[in-house]
Amino acid sequence: MSKILVIYDSLTGNTAKMAELIAEGAKTVREVHVEVCSVDAVNVKELNEAEAVAIGCPTHAFSASNKIKEFLSRNDVKEALMSKDVAIFTSCLLYPSALKWFEKNLRMLNVRIVGKAYARGKPKGNKVQELLSLGRLLADKIKR
Ligand SMILES: Cc1cc2nc3c(=O)[nH]c(=O)nc-3n(C[C@H](O)[C@H](O)[C@H](O)COP(=O)(O)O)c2cc1C
Repeated sequence: MSKILVIYDSLTGNTAKMAELIAEGAKTVREVHVEVCSVDAVNVKELNEAEAVAIGCPTHAFSASNKIKEFLSRNDVKEALMSKDVAIFTSCLLYPSALKWFEKNLRMLNVRIVGKAYARGKPKGNKVQELLSLGRLLADKIKR
């Protein structure tokens, strides 16, 4: 069965909620196994096994959070992500600067960014639908 790993960092729960919604959307696609994991607990073997990844964090200081930056600077993580389908997401107060950081840094790893989403604060209203759709889109990419 194809596998998706949804990785997130979150200080106050908003990005974690986004991760859950992306996973919920991906789970509506049959034959796809979805797991949600905090960046603190990612097992690189599982990351290797995943065919697609969603990765997100809060926007901090007009950029991605330090935990996500540290995670994506690891060579084992970079190798595991190479050539995968990836969706990116961030929660912010005003401007979703972390998306720009992801785009710039993931491009160097030759990953395919298949979609992106942001929410100001906790996702609500049409943002909920957007995140469910992003999960479905990612799952559709790898469905066998
Ligand atoms: C240290 C720190 C820096 C932040 N910097 C920004 C920023 O540059 N731009 C912005 O729009 N929001 C900024 N925020 C707000 C968070 O991105 C926002 O509250 C987000 O919803 C938090 O997500 P979380 O609940 O997943 O931690 C910052 C918050 C913190 C704690």
